[in-house]
Amino acid sequence: MSKPIDPHTPAAASRTERPGGGLVTNVASGVIDTGRDALSAAASTARSGARLALGTIFAGANVLIDLGVRAARALPLRDGATAWPPEAAAMPPESVMPSESIMKGKSASPESVTNAARESVAAQGESPKSKRDTGHAGKSSQTAAPLVRGWWRSTGSLPVWEPNDVRQALRCVNSPIAVTVHHERIALGVDGICTLGATAPTETAPDAGEQILPLFAYAPALHPSMLGDPSFRHDYGLEYAYLAGAMANGIASVEIVEAMGRAGMMGFFGSAGLSVDRVAHAIDHIQAALPDRPFGFNLIHSPSEPDLESAVVDLYLKRGVRVVDASAYLDLTLPLVRYRVRGITRDAEGRVICPNRVLGKVSRVEVARKFLSPPPEAMLNKLVAAGDLTAEQAQWAKRIPVAQDLIVEADSGGHTDNRPAVALLPTMMALRDELQAEFEYDRPLRIGAAGGIGTPAAAAAAFAMGAAFVLTGSVNQSCVEAGTSDAVREMLAKAAQADVTMAPAADMFEMGVKVQVLKFGTMFAMRARKLYDLYRQYDSLDALPDAQRTALERDFFRCSLEQAWDQTRAFFEKRDPSQIARAEAEPKHRMALVFRSYLGQASKWANAGEPTRKADYQVWCGPAMGAFNEWARGSCLERWQNRTVVAVAMNLMLGAAVLTRVNWLRAQGVEIAPDLARFEPMELAEVQGALAE
Ligand SMILES: Cc1cc2nc3c(=O)[nH]c(=O)nc-3n(C[C@H](O)[C@H](O)[C@H](O)COP(=O)(O)O)c2cc1C
Repeated sequence: MSKPIDPHTPAAASRTERPGGGLVTNVASGVIDTGRDALSAAASTARSGARLALGTIFAGANVLIDLGVRAARALPLRDGATAWPPEAAAMPPESVMPSESIMKGKSASPESVTNAARESVAAQGESPKSKRDTGHAGKSSQTAAPLVRGWWRSTGSLPVWEPNDVRQALRCVNSPIAVTVHHERIALGVDGICTLGATAPTETAPDAGEQILPLFAYAPALHPSMLGDPSFRHDYGLEYAYLAGAMANGIASVEIVEAMGRAGMMGFFGSAGLSVDRVAHAIDHIQAALPDRPFGFNLIHSPSEPDLESAVVDLYLKRGVRVVDASAYLDLTLPLVRYRVRGITRDAEGRVICPNRVLGKVSRVEVARKFLSPPPEAMLNKLVAAGDLTAEQAQWAKRIPVAQDLIVEADSGGHTDNRPAVALLPTMMALRDELQAEFEYDRPLRIGAAGGIGTPAAAAAAFAMGAAFVLTGSVNQSCVEAGTSDAVREMLAKAAQADVTMAPAADMFEMGVKVQVLKFGTMFAMRARKLYDLYRQYDSLDALPDAQRTALERDFFRCSLEQAWDQTRAFFEKRDPSQIARAEAEPKHRMALVFRSYLGQASKWANAGEPTRKADYQVWCGPAMGAFNEWARGSCLERWQNRTVVAVAMNLMLGAAVLTRVNWLRAQGVEIAPDLARFEPMELAEVQGALAE
């Protein structure tokens, strides 16, 4: 039996001539017809004398591809055309790139590379039949190795192949990179000029020290500020399509929001769980610190405290807070719609303008549909009747979505349906397209990704899937600016990916809604589940069996349940007295309020770092935290003391840009060893230095 061949080895490929001068490259039993590939496409473009900016192919390209007069002279594809220096001729342009390349990382020796290159060239002399006889078939083998796509002309430095130089070149995201061959090694050329097409640029001889070499693959410069949707960055005045999400009780602190705004990103203050006065105080600080920089505030749906939601909206409207992320909504509410449509007007071209922007945070398609649709007519009518809106404004409001931007929340810290981002995003994007077509909005709907983003690979994946922006949460809680305790930061910095679990939520306890929390180093999740089970099983605190009551009083509340109710009542006297009246009439509601008070305090104990309550800490956290810790291990970001939200964000974004380019090269058939592609965290100053180069 013939031995199967590895489609990635040079021996898998061979070449024959085809009538008309095109090439047929046989790869095992598969055929790649280069007569129809990029080369001939390029050649035909060239014949029309067109000049093509590569920016039209890759966003952010900064190299002009000259397919004009030079290529129109169409040198034959065969026999290597003309090339400087002789090394280039050793790799005829119609050849495939040797797959045993320098990209093998530390293990690659120049000798092995050279041999591989020789083998590759030699392999092209073998007959197609001998390849077919290997018995290895299948379409995948067609993708074995990249073809020569054109030419690279050095304009400064020569190509590099040593692993450290390659690693460095991959990280220089401001410079385009070309995969070429130099001294029979596959090498990376940085900067330089690329020419697509079969014809070598022969009419002008290179200057002394310049090289013209075959081009196998190319990646344009990609500054991290190019990631995501340009219109999103423009609309919010951002340099980077990166947001730091709201974290309740001011965990997403004034300091986080200010740091993000100054760095060209946007943070959302964590208003949930805070009094209106505390939120007003945060507005004072942030507006003073960021007079012309982006920032946002959280608007959280509070089914058990509708008056609070309305009061927060009043505050935002009064104080001119122009951007909110609306979260935990299962349905739209009047205060939310009131916020969105207040001050709606039209510009000179008749387009509807809304001063207030809503980013809807959603995990479910049915909720997303409501956010991406215009406000319901019944709500607009109510607002007109209440004098919040004129009849004319209500007509305009029918032409705008409640939220132009959706934050699609996958498996995250806090409220989550634990959906994987790779499953959720395409569904939400299809919904976006459906509703954009249905309502024909003046401005495009946009989808951003949240949940699970704690590594450059995750951010790169989100952008690759078409996310307009990314939003992080869990990783920011472990940073020095977060409004939590050092004890929590310490726990978070040690968490692994499986150290999270779901537990009943304080704000929607009775509805059985859950939040994702840390389980490492705390018994909160177990205790919260116990409370929910008791709530489901019994109708009042008085109905609890003695053994259960004793355990709750000793371990959970550290006081009698009567005293716990007294404290709860005192809290609601200030916060929402209507709850007390209801609890007096409904024993089950009283039980819910007492149990919820434990859940609420558990978060405050954590934020305050209360040492006697460590076992009760409620720390909202998703698997992104463990992923981040794993990535940061051994680096400057391993210790939480070194984690700032901007250092984390810039590392994620620079890393995403590096990995995106690596993936572009891979998609052109270049093998790159994981240890060369891996992006490790760097000090913020280093990141900034790399981006300024
Ligand atoms: C500690 C913590 C508190 C959070 N509180 C809120 C909140 O009050 N409002 C909100 O919209 N999202 C809240 N979130 C969700 C974040 O804003 C963000 O959407 C989410 O954390 C992103 O997923 P990740 O944790 O995987 O990064 C919270 C997340 C964490 C970790």
